[in-house]
Amino acid sequence: MNYAKEINRLKKEKNAVILAHYYQTGDIQDIADYVGDSLQLSQQAAATNADMIVFAGVHFMAETAKILSPDKTVVLPDLEAGCSLADSCPPASFAKFKEEHPNHVVISYINCSAEIKALSDYICTSSNAIKIVNSVPKDTPIIFAPDKNLGRYLIQETGRDMVLWDGACLVHESFSIDKILALYKQYPGAHFVAHPEAEEHILKIAEFVGSTTGLLNYVKNSTAKTFIVATESGILHKMQHDSPDKTLIAAPMLEDSTCACNECPYMKMNTMEKLYLCMKSESPAIEINEELRVKALGSINQMLALS
Ligand code: 13P
Ligand code: SF4
Repeated sequence: MNYAKEINRLKKEKNAVILAHYYQTGDIQDIADYVGDSLQLSQQAAATNADMIVFAGVHFMAETAKILSPDKTVVLPDLEAGCSLADSCPPASFAKFKEEHPNHVVISYINCSAEIKALSDYICTSSNAIKIVNSVPKDTPIIFAPDKNLGRYLIQETGRDMVLWDGACLVHESFSIDKILALYKQYPGAHFVAHPEAEEHILKIAEFVGSTTGLLNYVKNSTAKTFIVATESGILHKMQHDSPDKTLIAAPMLEDSTCACNECPYMKMNTMEKLYLCMKSESPAIEINEELRVKALGSINQMLALS
């Protein structure tokens, strides 16, 4: 079957919009109506006139789209496409953690469940996190969840002393500093860029730290010719498209890393076949309890208002 042709046909027939994250495979990015980072995709999900949102990403992204657009059908190619970072913050334990830190404002990274969003005051993404943290009055204590690496980076960038939840992403915690330094020797003049979900010792040696969009812009605008990129390797599709003359190298992983390479196993569960099937059958569709949705919407709207 020609999946691209069938997907384009279903897009028209069902007035559907395909939103894809930069970590999706190249064929999915190429057929999407919008490709973006977490913030851009949630802004698109809030603004679209389509009847059906097809989210080529992971569960928390499709769930966020449903929270923002409850009257639309929101489908995800594979319901099992979760996120290790979101899973590292179970709602019951987080509610207890919150109780142990009374009077704290809660800022949560968008990579979390609707239950965690409902327990939060603000949501942020990697592209607006500094702005969101800085918007909280200086004398108000802050809990930051669930990513301890992004949290530590934000403490350093904003000077705010935040209480951090101990969560992390399995892809961004698997980069090997020894192998990255070896690559530096092999490619003198290369720039090393990293996503803030990476660990502290990795961020310390980076020329530039930024969100997916931040990394794309940095590479596009830099005069350097070679880049070592420490984030999920799906980003290289758009990066190479924007900078065809530059050499892009995916940062190497630890030998004993739990994932085979720097691909997110959840993001890569989506395929063109599953994309076609979910549009055809309008399932799996995201459903969310209305009380939970309204609670989670508050913290997302705070973020959108500040972005
Ligand atoms: P951004 O899209 O905010 O850069 O986040 C990356 C990510 O980990 C998505 O799961
Ligand atoms: Fe989650 Fe990490 Fe995959 Fe992003 S790359 S979806 S944070 S597991």
